[in-house]
Amino acid sequence: MADLVEHARLVEPLHLRDLFAADPQRFQRFSVALDDLLIDYSKNRIVPQTMERLMALARVADLEGWRDRMFAGEPINTTEGRAVLHTALRNRSGRAVTVDGRDVMPDVTEVLIRMGAFADSVRTGAVKGATGKAFTDVVNIGIGGSDLGPAMVTLALAPYHDGPRVHFVSNVDGAHIADTLKRLDAETTLFLVASKTFTTLETMTNAATARAFVADRLGEAAVPDHFAAVSTAVPKCAAFGIREDRIFGFWDWVGGRYSVWSAIGLPVAIAVGSERFESFLAGGHAMDEHFRTAPLEANLPVVLGLLGVWYRNVFGMASQAVIPYDQRLSRFAAHLQQLDMESNGKRVRRDGRPVALSTGPVVWGEPGTNGQHAFFQLIHQGTDPIPVDFLLAAEPHETLSDHHAKLVANCLAQSEALMRGKTLDEVRDELAAAGLDEEAIAALAPHKVFPGNRPSNTILYRKLDPFTLGRLLALYEHKVFVQGVIWNVNSFDQWGVELGKQLATELLPVVKGDADPDTRDGSTAGLIGHFRALRG
Ligand code: F6P
Repeated sequence: MADLVEHARLVEPLHLRDLFAADPQRFQRFSVALDDLLIDYSKNRIVPQTMERLMALARVADLEGWRDRMFAGEPINTTEGRAVLHTALRNRSGRAVTVDGRDVMPDVTEVLIRMGAFADSVRTGAVKGATGKAFTDVVNIGIGGSDLGPAMVTLALAPYHDGPRVHFVSNVDGAHIADTLKRLDAETTLFLVASKTFTTLETMTNAATARAFVADRLGEAAVPDHFAAVSTAVPKCAAFGIREDRIFGFWDWVGGRYSVWSAIGLPVAIAVGSERFESFLAGGHAMDEHFRTAPLEANLPVVLGLLGVWYRNVFGMASQAVIPYDQRLSRFAAHLQQLDMESNGKRVRRDGRPVALSTGPVVWGEPGTNGQHAFFQLIHQGTDPIPVDFLLAAEPHETLSDHHAKLVANCLAQSEALMRGKTLDEVRDELAAAGLDEEAIAALAPHKVFPGNRPSNTILYRKLDPFTLGRLLALYEHKVFVQGVIWNVNSFDQWGVELGKQLATELLPVVKGDADPDTRDGSTAGLIGHFRALRG
């Protein structure tokens, strides 16, 4: 890393505008593709030696070794003693994938076939509710990885949605389930309880409310006909009253934030059909094969991951924006937040010692063009440059006049503006041409200067279909993996979410008035006192 910091001294004074002017081949030099899926990374603050040094960093960190160990099913999630094999869920190669000497592929295939058949029978109406009516609505009850992935994918694939309506309830705030249920008829509603552990407070609370909704309207005996479950904890699903043939399992080697590829994808399969869900899996597999076999220099997740390290660790940039110019990817950044921040939001290395470098950035974003009219001001002229990933489809699903041409023009304009900026001289000339006098120009010009030299990647693909969505999601999963290897952290545990859960359990009786708040800290006790006063 010291080597990169040293190298940055050479790069920092360079402006992207000049780098483009000096090198007509810059786009070709700094773009990588997997078939139609292209990453243009030429608008980054890099020169050829930068990439060479970043690749050397990856080799020193043994990125290829870690990657191979992950695909081979070694227990690289050391704090939980688990393999990391979401790639097995989308394995289309016919190769065995072994965990503890056992090929997991037969189990993966068995669940995939069962869930596909169930999804398709819900879609055709062959599976019915207790009163003999087909399901018009499906409610997925889950949170975190058991919600964000399937919710994001279902929305992204809206043009292919020809099954029952699919709703997602995650928050323990009763408003979420209340607002969902009030539009639904119990007779025609199927609930999917999705929870890796089947213990998560939010999911269990919402599942109990949904169960009562069915039991109140249709009677207790109707409950099994209106529920299915997805979990690694099969006996717990059965104890909830879910029939064995409606329980779809997965395995502890699938992290929650990587689980949309498992039976957690059931709502997606119900919405778009099992065939399209399999095409999504095939897209993920295509990216896996690329990540596994392409040389580091031409490897999309590697390039994306290393550029992130360059900005995070050498330039000290603490956030990363992801801006899809694709409205249906409007939950993509929300999904990436869990994927990236739960994976690499770590402060100790694999060996338990403090990390030497800053780790995961804050990941955020909203679709363009909406973002342009909201937070882009700060990205263009704020004091802290923020690297941006733009995502863009060449072909829209709709042929509505020139909407898509305008969308594309705006996306390209933003990355160009960030790269090029507008100099003081350019601003002064513009103002003079508009007829302003010298005093007015001097007062206004500084406000209109854009520094430029602000980095972005543009990820351009043919069309947002299930296969491409699979490739995009796997691209970011592997990007996060690459960064975790460089930072030498375990990207697959999430101990940081535990303390809050534990304290919430302790506080629940206090909030309910069944225990005394005095043992809490002054702030918490004070807030509880005020809360009680407000509630009368
Ligand atoms: O709170 C963190 C977390 O454990 C996530 O990692 C997970 O995706 C989410 O909670 C939901 O967990 P489960 O699927 O077990 O209900």
